[in-house]
This record gives sequence, structure tokens and C-alpha cells, in this order.
Amino acid sequence: MAVHLSTRIRRLLSAGIVLWLLPTSGCAFGGSAEGAPRLRTVEPTWIDGLKVQERSMDEDGLRISTVHPVVPGARPFSTEIHTTMAEEQTAFMTARDGKGAASLEQKAEFLVANDDVLGARITTRRDNGGSEASASATTRWYDAARGEVLPWTALFRDRDAIRATAAEVARVLHEEEGVEFDEQPEGLGQAAVSAAPSDAVEDAPSGPVEVAADDAWKLAAELEGSPLEDVGFGTSGGLVVSFPGLPGEDGGGERSVAIDADATRPLLSAFGERALAAAASEDKTVDLGDARTSGPITTLDCARVPCVALTFDDGPGEHTERLLDDLADYSAKATFYVLGSMVEEAPDVVARAAREGHEIANHTWKHDDLTAKSGKGVAADLARTAKAIEKATGAPPRTMRPPYGAYDDTSLKHTDYPVIMWDVDTRDWMNRDTRKIVKTATTETAPGSIVLFHDIHAPTVDAIPTVLRALHDRGFHFVTVTELFGGTGLEPGTVYQRRD
Ligand code: NI
Repeated sequence: MAVHLSTRIRRLLSAGIVLWLLPTSGCAFGGSAEGAPRLRTVEPTWIDGLKVQERSMDEDGLRISTVHPVVPGARPFSTEIHTTMAEEQTAFMTARDGKGAASLEQKAEFLVANDDVLGARITTRRDNGGSEASASATTRWYDAARGEVLPWTALFRDRDAIRATAAEVARVLHEEEGVEFDEQPEGLGQAAVSAAPSDAVEDAPSGPVEVAADDAWKLAAELEGSPLEDVGFGTSGGLVVSFPGLPGEDGGGERSVAIDADATRPLLSAFGERALAAAASEDKTVDLGDARTSGPITTLDCARVPCVALTFDDGPGEHTERLLDDLADYSAKATFYVLGSMVEEAPDVVARAAREGHEIANHTWKHDDLTAKSGKGVAADLARTAKAIEKATGAPPRTMRPPYGAYDDTSLKHTDYPVIMWDVDTRDWMNRDTRKIVKTATTETAPGSIVLFHDIHAPTVDAIPTVLRALHDRGFHFVTVTELFGGTGLEPGTVYQRRD
């Protein structure tokens, strides 16, 4: 998907410099002309339990910022939005040449939201530092009843309806917005008008048309880069297609094209009709249930983007807070395999790490070799440590790592956690050499890796800014161990070395 997106970026770049005018709230949007079609959007405050996750970094002229919503009762939808943005970031970072100034900004806003349907518009602005800046947007939809994430194509009853929409949008752009056919985005123009199915609207069957999610995704893949994917509903009840790559008449903003409410209805699938109903809804409370989910909510699909879990053992220690500062510079999330005895000594540091989104996990009370203990001894040691972690952070640990990486059948049997090892060993505790630590961490890390560090050693913490920069440049996302394996089902007493 990332590759396709960058193809689309190049197409949009041909529209030249595009100003970025993303509204901060409400439904004021786009077009500058009076009476211009307005895309309907939803106040996020209507959605019960909605959380907003922000990530940003600003280092050496490179600025990245993403803001995405998390709806606890719609986890697959939240994951889709976050992962779509992460794919875009990876594409942006890996396509980047040189180290010059550049920026990437991504935001999402809700187009519709009720207990039945969610729709979100993801907007991206890229600036590679030269004269070329570009903006683009796409949409994602959610069938709450089925728990299914859907692409824009799911709104339409079939391919003919999409062709008819393209023809109408091209016509309106030409006749009402004054955009010549040959200046219109690829997929519109004269070709779209010519390809319009004759009488598609009149001939359409009158009953609702169910479109299977798989078919909708297949069609969206076929139509990747379509100028119609930035589609929502207008304040007057029809479809609105927006063009972030097409400035308004005064050179700012973006163009939007509205299709009449009457002309819209025959184009829609059964899901599209539900989305339209959601758009028309005046209900200002949305409750999808499950809004009070406890514990961290992981929303990145590491099967789709390169992820790495940086892990830090044996702390907290005197360098841990400096490490937290460095991680914060990249909005990087890490996992700390802490000792219960150390947590007791520095609960504030552990509390801060947890508050900043890091995972606090179990590394036993005082680093005893678990293979020298009875089963009962193993369980008691882990329980005591878990209690200290929960006392400091308010949440129990979800994974453990045995000291020295040493385990046997007895210790596994009495371990009530997934057992997390590593596939990249920086040997930092032995070599205490910042350059070697950087080299190992950057050359051996692959998507899905778990990297072993110890934050009790200064040379290790010294290495982290360089490690973060190098892996970030390669498009990696820094996640906790739990997020790395999100959706794969970590099992207690089972040993994991990486995500395959
Ligand atoms: Ni250790």
C-alpha cells in the first residue's frame, strides 16, 4: 500500500505547490467560494471514550507529526487509521534522499460517527524541503455491526456507480469550478465523462445492494490512486469529493465537488446508505461500547509496517530518565524489564515511563537465576515483582524476561507471562562501548526485532539517540513488546524471540 501511495504522491505533485489548510475543528472546510460544498465532519467530543494519540519528532530539520484518534469500542478502525499513517511515514522516510529539511504531517478527522458507522478522513501534507509540497487525503469507513474496516469503494453499489460519480465530478469541476478537463486529476477529465455508463443511475436496481468487505477492498486496490477516494458527505446530504491536490480559485485551500442528494442515493450501496444516514444524524453522542477498556490500547499493525521493540533490562537506574528524554524526542515507545527491588527504590521513574507510554515488564525481584529456583519460588518472585510494578504504575506487567535469559521447564511452567527473549543482542553490559552498541543495534535489527539493552550503563544510553535516528531514517516504528505482537496472541509460558 505504501508503494501505491507514493505513486499517488507523484501524481499530486504535478498539481504543483499546494497550500495546506486543514481546519482544526468543526465542519468549516475547503472551498473558498461562497456556497461552496461543505464536507460534513463530526466533533470528536461526541464520541464516548475517544482518545487522541499524538506523535512528533523534530530533529535536524526533519519534522514528523501524526495525530490519530483511538476509539476504544472500534479497535480495528483505530488500528487501520494508525497503520495507514505509519505506512505513509515509512514510505516518506524510505523515499527521502539526503538529510535536508523535510516535514510530514498527518491528521485524521471524523466524517460520520454514530453507533452504526464511522468514517474518517486521513490527511497528509508532505514537504521535502524543496519547492515541492503536496497534500493528499484518503478515507476509511467502519461497519460497527460487523466490526469491519472498509475502503471508500464500500460506499458505492458497484463499479458503474463509481464511473457515474467520476463523470459527474469531472463535469462539475469543469462547468462549475472552471477546472479544464486537461487540468483535472488523473482519473477524471474528458476520459471520465466519456466512460460514464449510460443511464447508470436510472437503470440501477431499487433495492439495497450489499457489498462484501473483501470485494470492496479488491476494488479499492484496483482503483488505487482514484481521485474519488477522498469522499464524504456534505452538509446538504449528497456525496462530497475533495481534492487536496487542487487549490481553490484564490490559490489556497482545496476544491470540493458536491453531488446532489437526489443523485447520490442511487449510487450508494447498502453500507453507503447507512453512512449517509449517519451523516444526517443529529445525534451528538456516539457510544460503541468498550469505551472504558483498561490498560494500553495498541493500534499499530506490525504485520504491515516495519516495527522494532527496543528493550531495556535491569533498571530503573541513574541513566533511565535521560533515556526517557531521548525516547520522547522520537515519540518512541520502549519496554523496560525492571527489577522489583529497583522499582521499590525509584518508583517515580517507573511511573513516568509508564505514563509516557512505555511498557513496564517483569524481570524478577533481584535478578536471581530462575533455573535455580523451585516452581513455587519462581512464581513467588514474579508475583512480588508484579506487585511492585503495579504499585508504581497502576497496571500489572504483561510480559516477563528471565534474568540471564535462563529458563527451564520448571520455570516456564510456573511463569504466568509470555517469556520475551530477543533476537538482537547488543552485548552492551559486556563491551560498554557506545560505537559497538550503535553498530549492532542498527545493522542487526530487522522488522519484528526485539533488541536487548541495559539502561543501567551510561554507554548504552549514550548510544540511543544515534540508534533512534538511524532506524527512524529506515522507516522503522518503535513499539512496545506488547504492541509488536499485537493481534498475534502472546501465550503465557511460551518463549518469543522476535515477531516473525
Ligand atoms: Ni537482566
